[in-house]
Amino acid sequence: MQRMLHEETILKTCLEKNRITVGNIFCYDTVTSTMDIAFGLEEKETKDRTIILARQQNRGRGRFNRIWYPVAGALYASLVLTEYDFQLPYSMLASYAVYSVFKKLKADVSLKWINDVVWSNGLKIAGILTEEQSGRTVIGIGVNLNNRSFPEKLKGKATSYFKETGKKISPIDFFCFILQVLVPLLDTVQDEGLQSILRQWETESAVKGRKVRVINESGEVRGVVEGINRNSGALILLVDGHRKEIFDGSLFYE
Ligand code: BTN
Repeated sequence: MQRMLHEETILKTCLEKNRITVGNIFCYDTVTSTMDIAFGLEEKETKDRTIILARQQNRGRGRFNRIWYPVAGALYASLVLTEYDFQLPYSMLASYAVYSVFKKLKADVSLKWINDVVWSNGLKIAGILTEEQSGRTVIGIGVNLNNRSFPEKLKGKATSYFKETGKKISPIDFFCFILQVLVPLLDTVQDEGLQSILRQWETESAVKGRKVRVINESGEVRGVVEGINRNSGALILLVDGHRKEIFDGSLFYE
């Protein structure tokens, strides 16, 4: 697998300019999945905050083992963490970082529980997958940036920054922006706890008080969201008056 040294230099320069410290940076043209590369790194290559970036994936994965379809122009990245608290809701923090970058670009996006970033028309523009294995936490970030079209299966479900605005943005620059939000956020949360970011996520996602339907492996739940807890679970007041915490699933507004 050929490394793309020029891309690595661009990202390194951007991060240094913004005083963001990361571990190693590995940029590739095509990989199976940036998650596979991250977990396959040797111990000595795996400093905290090591980055894997690819222009294309041919076996990308999403939550619930779904396929993350390869579409040219998207950002495919993984961030390897080795020194943070394993219990943090990493996906929620990463989705907040992606959302913040889009907001800075004045893009019309919102956060959707559990960790999706969606355009105002409800179409998904980014997804986050966090996996943990043998002392490594890997946050996988997929963002539809310059994608011009999508496979048939994603029609009516996904969109890209380019499709919505007609503008292009370099995936490397976008990832550098993400890290400028995410790295300080991880440090703040590690030092000061989750409280303020949870409240911010709750407010920005406007999920609190919404009538929802959540579908997950255990079935379907209907009710009103009372809040988001520290594990990024949604506390739902059910139609029958009982309360239930849900930690995963697909959420639909009613
Ligand atoms: C989801 O919404 O289901 C999460 C999608 C996560 C996709 C990203 S793309 C980069 C990284 N590599 C993968 O194979 N998956 C994540």
